[in-house]
Amino acid sequence: MTNSEAGIRPEQVVYCPPAEYREYAPFRDYESAYQNYLKDPDGFWRDIASDLLWFRQWDKVREWEYPFAKWFINAKLNITYNCLERHLKNNRRNKVALFWHGENGTKKIYTYDHLHRAVMQFGNALKNLGVGKGDVVCIYMPTVPEQVVAMLACARIGAVHTVVFAGYGASALNQRIVGSNAKVVITADASMRRGKSIPLKPIVEEALIHAPSVERVVVLRNQDPPTCLLDDFEVDFYEIMQAAEKKCPPEEMDSEDRLFILYTSGTTGAPKGIVHTCGGYMVGAYYTTKYVLNVKDNDVYWCTADPGWITGHTYAIYGPLLLGATIFMTESTPDYPDVGIWWKLIEEYGINVFYTAPTAIRMFMRYGEDWPNKYDLSSLRILASVGEPLNPEAFEWFYHVIGKGKCPLTDTWWQTETGSHMITTLVGEPMKPGFAGKPIPGVVADVVDSKGNPVGPFQTGYLAITEPWPSMMRYVNDDEEKYRSYWESPNHRYYSTNDLAIKDDDGYIMILGRSDDLIIVSGHNIGTAEVESALVSHQAVAEAAAIGKPDAVKGNIVKAFVILVEGTVRTPKLEHDLKYHVRQTLGPIAVPSEIEYVDNLPKTRSGKIMRRVLKAKEMGVDPGDITTLDE
Ligand code: WT7
Repeated sequence: MTNSEAGIRPEQVVYCPPAEYREYAPFRDYESAYQNYLKDPDGFWRDIASDLLWFRQWDKVREWEYPFAKWFINAKLNITYNCLERHLKNNRRNKVALFWHGENGTKKIYTYDHLHRAVMQFGNALKNLGVGKGDVVCIYMPTVPEQVVAMLACARIGAVHTVVFAGYGASALNQRIVGSNAKVVITADASMRRGKSIPLKPIVEEALIHAPSVERVVVLRNQDPPTCLLDDFEVDFYEIMQAAEKKCPPEEMDSEDRLFILYTSGTTGAPKGIVHTCGGYMVGAYYTTKYVLNVKDNDVYWCTADPGWITGHTYAIYGPLLLGATIFMTESTPDYPDVGIWWKLIEEYGINVFYTAPTAIRMFMRYGEDWPNKYDLSSLRILASVGEPLNPEAFEWFYHVIGKGKCPLTDTWWQTETGSHMITTLVGEPMKPGFAGKPIPGVVADVVDSKGNPVGPFQTGYLAITEPWPSMMRYVNDDEEKYRSYWESPNHRYYSTNDLAIKDDDGYIMILGRSDDLIIVSGHNIGTAEVESALVSHQAVAEAAAIGKPDAVKGNIVKAFVILVEGTVRTPKLEHDLKYHVRQTLGPIAVPSEIEYVDNLPKTRSGKIMRRVLKAKEMGVDPGDITTLDE
């Protein structure tokens, strides 16, 4: 009998929230809020959207022609008008929008008024470079306030941003620039990491070699002496900003106009450009930051995600700004100059809502309680987690050592494609370590078998979402088939999350991991196919397969199995060369921690590598059904 037939029944711990949590509970009770949504889904979303400012009201809340949805039909808006002017009007003109803390201790503060001015002026600077509504701008920058300004300036003028994580290498950057047809690239001379400055501009130069769409590069220059710029092609961030007009009215965007493209790893090698639109995304980001993360007017809120990922888009920038909250942001890594730095920052800035990832928590656990105990963490009110399953040990540590057993901890499940939170335990509801929770009001989800039928309690199945929601991706850039593949199969009609899950008797969902070929390393999504094709592009490699191997800290590490080209000598330097090659092509996050040389790889008769066979062998477990394995 397999686990799924028997039903894994993990040991369940339930934390019943103390009465004071109810004070901040967003809904009076989950069940009635959920039933209200089910009774009138359009009314539910209409009420939430009505908190925000629209230049023109929608004619209809949604149009749903499976699998294509449109939200807030014919409504006109600008997300930056809601992130900025809405608060200037509401007496928050001099409120801090952003506290930024540099790795070397530099501090920068932007009030809502400052941010508004910077966004307008940089928006005009982009216009002066010829960027208009619908043009794509690629942002490849470190986590500095100018990155926020650049993103919002794009949204201000109706340009579509595509942010690329600054840890990616030249070829990954090139793919994203070419794929999105970017007209302008905004970068910085260097980023700071663990006391060293890491040059970014040379990577951009290399990425631009075959990128004909790019007309200009904007460089934020912080280094001394300043990096040289190539006449007419490269321009200085602040020079073009200061030369621009100050007032920049918000571009009127249709609800269904593109707001951004964000690339996520695909299973077939090429990354997928997930497209989000203005109206629905704004409503999803606003709703969940308010109701799930519970950020309040007086809070200082810190989401540790890099703006290069969807969490950084929705919960480090757009969501909190839509609420008029005070954001804390830093370029600090969690272990530099020591592993107390994050707790020190929480004390120093009086952080109230803290949103981070299981991989960070597990790293801190390894260094023990002494580090956080050196600092006063009593400002913390709410803790939240995202990116991969928050295993019960990590939950307990986060809840007790950091939250002192006084802060609700919400484990939020969602994806780049969903745009905003989908499944979690709302503040005030009983918390079950290991379980993300239930679908939030506004989301209909279930655990189903391959035919789409719900499975019983504790049976492993696929996590599926059956109704459209406002912040869902609208399409995959240039690839309708890929978009359809999320929704359609011969067997079912629902949105496939590609995650495996179980549900308990109370409807709480535990996410077990990916069912497709993605490896999540420290919360970063890496396609097996990306690593494989990077390896195979090395002259010594004939074939390669990559798997995620469970790791106590990172969640997974990348392990690669490599078939070498005949006659290649296996020197220790070769392994180093292969890793270096992956680093150059994909960036440091994708480098295999382990490389094993093999003579053949397990494949199906149709020639597909059976990674799960490799993985089962690696973990010493039964590989399951291997009838398709080619002997
Ligand atoms: C995949 C999406 C959504 C922001 C960060 C990652 C995994 C995400 C959880 C969670 C268990 C989680 C899933 C999902 N994941 N949050 N709370 N519990 N797994 O976004 O890069 O698009 O990855 O991350 O496997 O499908 P992403």
